[in-house]
Amino acid sequence: MSGHGTPIPMSARKSGPLKGRAEVPGDKSISHRSLILGAMAVGETKVTGLLEGQDVLDTAAAMRAFGAEVTRHGEGDWSVHGVGVGGFAEPEQVIDCGNSGTGVRLIMGAMATTAMSATFAGDASLRKRPMGRVTDPLALFGARAYGRQGGRLPMTIVGAADPVPVRYVVPVPSAQVKSAVLLAGLNAPGQTVVIEREPTRDHSERMLRGFGAELTVEDTGEGRVITLTGQPELRPQVVAVPRDPSSAAFPVCAALIVEGSDILVPGVSQNPTRNGLYTTLVEMGADIEFQNPREEGGEPVADLRVRASTLNGIEVPEERAASMIDEYPILSVVAAFAEGTTVMRGVKELRVKESDRIDAMARGLEACGVRVEEEEDVLIVHGMGQGGVPGGATCATHIDHRIAMSFLVAGLAAKRPVSVDDGSPIATSFPAFEGLMAGLGAQIRRDNR
Ligand code: S3P
Repeated sequence: MSGHGTPIPMSARKSGPLKGRAEVPGDKSISHRSLILGAMAVGETKVTGLLEGQDVLDTAAAMRAFGAEVTRHGEGDWSVHGVGVGGFAEPEQVIDCGNSGTGVRLIMGAMATTAMSATFAGDASLRKRPMGRVTDPLALFGARAYGRQGGRLPMTIVGAADPVPVRYVVPVPSAQVKSAVLLAGLNAPGQTVVIEREPTRDHSERMLRGFGAELTVEDTGEGRVITLTGQPELRPQVVAVPRDPSSAAFPVCAALIVEGSDILVPGVSQNPTRNGLYTTLVEMGADIEFQNPREEGGEPVADLRVRASTLNGIEVPEERAASMIDEYPILSVVAAFAEGTTVMRGVKELRVKESDRIDAMARGLEACGVRVEEEEDVLIVHGMGQGGVPGGATCATHIDHRIAMSFLVAGLAAKRPVSVDDGSPIATSFPAFEGLMAGLGAQIRRDNR
């Protein structure tokens, strides 16, 4: 879905205690990967709990364009009839990945070692994002990329007809880059080795093994060394997608800052490569109980009981950044309602997400009366305590779902309402956000222009 529809201005105002149960949608990262790996397996993969956000729907459409049969049977209940590693057909149309960096980068990897070309497009946000971080390693396999200046979409990838395996040290902490190289390595002969100096989300490694690929991970002085043996026959799987910890962050943080709140968020993934926000919140003094820990769909999950809390600012350890990279926008809101200062270092990757998230949060929080300091790689928020944030601003969301949801959560506890210029991007990752938050008692509404 390229382009961008009609903006949906929204606002949130101070709400009474949030109460009840918040069933957040399926994990976005795992949803993309189940469709892509399902399409590269031989036979039928069944997926339950698939996130039906626009990002994932765009990946489903892309897999159809490459020849897989992708069918929706009911809410979250999907099947993918895969064509096997190296079995993709050349798409007849442009692959439009909408707003999704994960979608476009993983799919580029998946097709880059098959002799065909494909042209990728995206919305105004995705067209600004760097693709060189993926096309550089894909070139080592023998693929070629023809995009706009600076390695931007639209871009055509010509897949390698005779791919060679690759050894690649990922230069930025990025699960998307790691995953693109691993997916490309599937159709290269021999062993592809990816080395990451800082661990990033490990869903690709877990799922590739689950689909029957031979993959080993070794922690060495150089970093995490991942070795994949190419040209396996992937076996179709039954994938139960756990609930998304990045989406759960919004009701969880809302409950922490809205006085008197007490909510339950069941079945949230606690994968250690994803749970940095929760560790941070507990260090800030958050009252979160991790109940009923168990395994679901190969991932550790727990039910989160969250009560409103008095929070203190902290220094977030830099090495935690990769495990909470998508959560800094909502953490910066929580930090505004904490006592004292919260320092977030090592966060420059935020500048190349759906928007420049450091800039977007800094400008919006300032407009709400919060003092913020910003450097290239640092965000510092000076907390105003529970109930201390003035609010009363309209914040720009820059086609970024997490910026929109973060400011709406801020409005639930600020003195005066907080508005966003456009809440429409929320549908990319959390289409049920408004209904779910309303069910807890949050005062969020669409504004008529
Ligand atoms: C994702 C990886 C992260 C994250 C994105 C999802 C993934 O991006 O921000 O929302 O599913 O691999 P980077 O790998 O670019 O950090």
